[in-house]
Amino acid sequence: MGLRFDLLLFTAALLFSPALSDLVLSKVDRRVDLTTQVVRITSTLKAENTGGNSVSEVLVVFPDRQAKTLAYLSAVSNAGKGKAKVSSVTLPVKEVELKGMPPSLVGYSVSLPEPLGKGESFTLDVLAVYAHSLKPFPEKITQADIQLLVFEDSAYYLSPYEVKAQSLTVKLPQARIESYTKLENTKIHGSDIKYGPYENLPPFSYSPIVVHFESNRPFAVARQVVREIEISHWGNVQVTEHYNIVNGGSEIVGEFSRLDFQARPHIRGPSAFKNLVAKLPPRAHSVYYRDEIGNISTSHLWGDSKKTELEIEPRYPMFGGWRTAFTIGYGLPLRDFLFESEGKRFINISFGSPINEIVVDTLIVKVVLPEGSRDISVSAPFPVKESRETKFSHLDLVGRPVVVLEKSNVVPEHNQYFQVYYTFSSISMLMEPLMLISGFFFLFITCIVYMHADMSISKSSPSYLAKLQWEEVQAVIQQIDNIISRCLAVHDKLEASLRDLSRTGDVQACKAARKLGDSALKELTKELKPLLSFLQSSSQAGHVVSKVDELVTKERELQEKLMVKLSTVVDCYEKKLSGREIENRINAQQQKITALRQEVDDLLEFIDEL
Ligand SMILES: *[C@@H]1O[C@H](CO)[C@@H](O)[C@H](O)[C@H]1NC(C)=O
Ligand SMILES: *[C@@H]1O[C@H](CO)[C@@H](O)[C@H](O)[C@H]1NC(C)=O
Repeated sequence: MGLRFDLLLFTAALLFSPALSDLVLSKVDRRVDLTTQVVRITSTLKAENTGGNSVSEVLVVFPDRQAKTLAYLSAVSNAGKGKAKVSSVTLPVKEVELKGMPPSLVGYSVSLPEPLGKGESFTLDVLAVYAHSLKPFPEKITQADIQLLVFEDSAYYLSPYEVKAQSLTVKLPQARIESYTKLENTKIHGSDIKYGPYENLPPFSYSPIVVHFESNRPFAVARQVVREIEISHWGNVQVTEHYNIVNGGSEIVGEFSRLDFQARPHIRGPSAFKNLVAKLPPRAHSVYYRDEIGNISTSHLWGDSKKTELEIEPRYPMFGGWRTAFTIGYGLPLRDFLFESEGKRFINISFGSPINEIVVDTLIVKVVLPEGSRDISVSAPFPVKESRETKFSHLDLVGRPVVVLEKSNVVPEHNQYFQVYYTFSSISMLMEPLMLISGFFFLFITCIVYMHADMSISKSSPSYLAKLQWEEVQAVIQQIDNIISRCLAVHDKLEASLRDLSRTGDVQACKAARKLGDSALKELTKELKPLLSFLQSSSQAGHVVSKVDELVTKERELQEKLMVKLSTVVDCYEKKLSGREIENRINAQQQKITALRQEVDDLLEFIDEL
């Protein structure tokens, strides 16, 4: 691989446009920080213009394999030397297409604050941050094993320019190194590996190195994080963050013993992490941490005027490949994040997850603005995918506008401030309270009207008493109604027993059913008696009594006819008569029953509507 790559680069060097070669790098110092899962490479470049034309940009290139894991790139001027350090300026960086170079390189151009004339030099710091670039090796380990990682790079700074002098330092989390590529001028210094100095290397020099080392630092990777930032003009910013985390380190195989782990966590589970720390803004309040089971109270919270720290402890130690999902939430004072400029309001709040050294594969930030916000625009320090949604909560009329920002491959360096600008009329703000107030007002008026209406019927007046009595009558009629319905249900059961008889010929079963039906109807008749005498005695019931009486009479008649029919059929069966014979005998009875049932149903309906 190394050889092929060198050949490609060699070709590239030949084809490379000569205008760029006015620039040489007189000094390059690179520092690789491998102390966490996020790899940070800081390169201090001293660029010198040795040609005749002025130069306004510096190119930095990456092999595409490395570029794939590049999550963040920034360049700042390193203006001052030593003590007289002037504040550094961030330089614009943009990806460029590399003409005449092999497709295995990805290039970025850094714009200099002012063109570099002949013989002049400029020093800049380039920071490249990588996610998922450290590979666990072996990929699978047991609970008791330590975790080993592999890092690959080049001992020489890959550049389209000639490099006069350079050095590289690789900083490891621990002094224990499994193996590393030894070249000339390679030294170990504590937990640092130093390569160089190397001098006068032509453009595109490349010399692969591999470092295999121990690291038991948390490998917390969030597959997805959804941060919802809800603005309330009543003084609060509510932040809710949903996490879906996996330990992206060496996968654990074999049996896991919690007992072993608890007894000696460092020996019996060095690769697991037990907690995560979230650095929340100062004055965060109402902080909670929960998972699908409920609130987790083993989290700790402490803070001062500069920050609030939340320690999150999942329910189990997180070994490689293990997952957990949880939600943290907190409130923030609005005045710390909402500002005004040129007639617009804007939210200025940080973008990334507050959890330390976490890599987020997909981060979705939703800013929920107050209902009625307009002219919404977003200003972010790096490219994000933007869309809109609407969120409804109680009392919302048209819903709250939601700005949705999405970014993949997020590292702690993305934890920068972004702004959402919007306009808002204070009338909208009064919308909800006005709705509440008017709601209460109408309720109040209704109460008053109702109370007045009620008061117009004095408690001792005859009309009031009449009203009470009529309500009683209605209640009794309701009960009668109910009892008659239950009688009809018994009728239905009896009819059903007749159908069973014709199917099974089981005369005894039919007789038993009749016995049950008989007693049920007797009970119901008993219940009916006091209700009927109440109705007859009530002065208010006058106009309905006749109908109720009619209903009760008809139902009783229906009962009698039904019993006769039942006896007839059973009799026929006992005499073993034919089906046709039975039909003939009950035909007339059946007609009467059907007519009566219709009358009862009609009366019930009439009374129901009273
Ligand atoms: C969890 O804690 C939050 C904040 O303290 C509280 O509002 C919520 O009611 C709690 N939920 C449960 C299920 O205990
Ligand atoms: C946003 O807040 C940060 C930190 O307080 C501040 O440095 C930055 O200037 C603010 N940005 C804007 C546009 O106000």
